[in-house]
Amino acid sequence: MHISLQVNGTPHRLEVRGAETLAEVLRDRLGLTGTKIGCNAGECGACTVVLDGRAVCACLVPTPRMDGAAVRTIEGVTPAEGLSPLQQALVEHGAFQCGFCTPGVVMSLTALFDRVRLPSEHEIRVALQGNVCRCSGYVRLIEAAKAAALRLAR
Ligand code: FES
Repeated sequence: MHISLQVNGTPHRLEVRGAETLAEVLRDRLGLTGTKIGCNAGECGACTVVLDGRAVCACLVPTPRMDGAAVRTIEGVTPAEGLSPLQQALVEHGAFQCGFCTPGVVMSLTALFDRVRLPSEHEIRVALQGNVCRCSGYVRLIEAAKAAALRLAR
């Protein structure tokens, strides 16, 4: 089937197999490998992208749901040079180790920051509920998110 979707503001028309997921389309067809595939079952959040304004696990998005959608990936929120304020805060707070979870974390927080100007710690925790980090834990992640939210709200 043919689908049309916008990824990071660029329109694409693709022929896809019925069983392809958004994570596969992004990585294998569009070369956007910043979106990681971890569990491939919607449990770990590594493949989180923003789909029509909501953070979703791209591994769970089937082909028909992509048609007509607007998708943002980690490539779309990373400046051509340097880091976004959120990425900078994650670095400053040492909020990752291996970094496999980081793109998904950034996209979950991006969806939150787009929706809520200055989210509370509770709202940050809820936004990150679906993002599993096996290395660094969540304390630094939450602190980084709070710092970034403050910066972005100024
Ligand atoms: Fe390794 Fe989060 S930094 S999984």
